[in-house]
Amino acid sequence: MWDERYSTEDYAYGKTANTFLQQYAQHLGSGVTKGKVLSLAEGEGRNAVFLAQQGYEVTAVDGSLVGLQKAQRLAAEQGVSIACIHADLNEFDPGEAQWDAIISIFCPMPPALRHWLFPRIIRGLKPGGAFLLEAYTPQQLAFGTGGGNDAASMLSREILSTALAGFTFQHLAELERDVVEGQYHTGRASVVQVLARKPGSERA
Ligand SMILES: C[S@@+](CC[C@H](N)C(=O)[O-])C[C@H]1O[C@@H](n2cnc3c(N)ncnc32)[C@H](O)[C@@H]1O
Repeated sequence: MWDERYSTEDYAYGKTANTFLQQYAQHLGSGVTKGKVLSLAEGEGRNAVFLAQQGYEVTAVDGSLVGLQKAQRLAAEQGVSIACIHADLNEFDPGEAQWDAIISIFCPMPPALRHWLFPRIIRGLKPGGAFLLEAYTPQQLAFGTGGGNDAASMLSREILSTALAGFTFQHLAELERDVVEGQYHTGRASVVQVLARKPGSERA
């Protein structure tokens, strides 16, 4: 489905980074060190390219090869470089203490994927590393402005606070906002946002 969605000249979610990510991007590194960021379900590259422009060393993972090819094209267009990994997140292992930050923007997260991925996100982050996510909540079904129609793939404050138990939450909120990010994310929406830090001593 995703390869088909991305098989047009247009960028399905636009070329501009997600608004929440833009708001909090400066919190993904530590001080002047920007560090290594892993972007899960990156799609066509808008968020990875934005982070590379901010000075982060970005690796993008996605199940769509077409999306990643467009991500590389966007990076070249913008004069930055990003690394891409073509993988199904259900089998992807980010390693241990590798990443200063891991981000996930609008990745559908069915329960089986959550159970696989969250423990690996936690393990993959360096001590003090940041996890940033924005996703639709099940209330989004009433808005119909993006995110499909599978409530089980959507997230909530409660799911995230449980999955990231022990993290320090700098921001954790369910809210309604206007998401106008490409032709598939088109208006008032119900989202959950998190910026949380893994316990550890590498950062203040
Ligand atoms: C709604 S798009 C969001 C893309 C991008 N994060 C953005 O905000 O522009 C969802 C993305 O998740 C990817 N995706 C969904 N399930 C996946 C899985 N199990 N493994 C890898 N990628 C997946 C799709 O290929 C698609 O690019």
